[in-house]
This record gives sequence, C-alpha cells and structure tokens, in this order.
Amino acid sequence: MNYKKILNQVKKRPRVHGYISPNTETKLSLIHGLGLFSKRVINKNEIVAVWGGCIATKNEIEKLPKDIGYEYALEIYPGYYLAEVKESELDSSDFVNHSCSPNCKIVNKFTMISKRKIKKGEELTSDFSNHKMNGHNFLCNCGAKNCKKKTFFN
Ligand SMILES: C[S@@+](CC[C@H](N)C(=O)[O-])C[C@H]1O[C@@H](n2cnc3c(N)ncnc32)[C@H](O)[C@@H]1O
Ligand SMILES: [Zn+2]
Repeated sequence: MNYKKILNQVKKRPRVHGYISPNTETKLSLIHGLGLFSKRVINKNEIVAVWGGCIATKNEIEKLPKDIGYEYALEIYPGYYLAEVKESELDSSDFVNHSCSPNCKIVNKFTMISKRKIKKGEELTSDFSNHKMNGHNFLCNCGAKNCKKKTFFN
C-alpha cells in the first residue's frame, strides 16, 4: 500500500464511513504503516472512533486485493463483515493499530473509547486480539513489555 498517497487522502477527507474524533490525526506509525494519534489531551472515556463501512461476505472479502481484504474488515456475524472494499474510501478510523497494552478499548463492536487520559502526540491503540477476523494474524510490533507477539484476530 502507498501510505504517502493514503495519508494525503485521509488528511483531505478524514471521514468517509466512520466517525473519528476531531482530537485525532492520522500519521505514519512506528508500530505499523499509518496510525491514529492524539492532537491534544484526550480524557478518559472519550469517544475516539466509530467504525463504518459496507457489509461484505467472506467470499467478497477474499476477492479483494490482499492489502485491503481482511486488513480493514470486522467480522460482525460468522461469514459477514463490516468492511472497507475500496482504497479510495479508507478513512482515519481505519488506521487504528493494535497494542497489547492499549490506551483505548472497544466498547461495542464498532466503538472505541479512551481507557485513560491520553497525552498530546500519543498513538491511540486498542487490543484487537479478541476481534474475529477468520484466523487473520500478524506478528505484533507494539513494543509493550507484555507484548504477546503473534496476535490472532479470533
Ligand atoms: C486496521 S489496520 C491498522 C492500520 C495499519 N497500520 C495500516 O496502515 O493499514 C490492521 C492491520 O495493521 C497491522 N497492525 C496493526 N497493529 C499492529 C501491530 N501492533 N503490530 C504489527 N502490525 C500491526 C496488521 O497488519 C493489521 O492487520
Ligand atoms: Zn504487542
């Protein structure tokens, strides 16, 4: 994925399907690709992101280019996903990275709130390991002391 191009796209149009707090911005991340960062102090329990997208089946997800497919898909029922299906429709809410010691949490399938007060400039992360993504996994690069390394989305 051309992160420079996507970064320009997201900066021009931070919201397409999702909601993203105006207290955040998308930037290059040390964890992976692009990430979401705080532009100012975020208090505990503030809404950071609400994910949106299209409803897609497992078959439809598997026909997408690999760098979109499961990367931006959230399984909402076995075999059914809330997903981004076009690179041109990726928005800021799609660029939250996982951490094994996150500063945000997911309160329902689609909504992420801050777990604690977050300083300006911190990357906003969540623990995605309990999200169902059909066996999709990655080697975690969050840098936390308690990092679980291989992270499965199931
Ligand atoms: C929703 S995307 C997050 C945004 C991603 N950084 C990007 O630029 O597209 C989820 C994907 O990002 C990568 N990712 C997220 N958190 C990670 C982490 N802690 N370590 C390694 N890769 C991570 C994995 O490839 C994961 O499937
Ligand atoms: Zn980790």
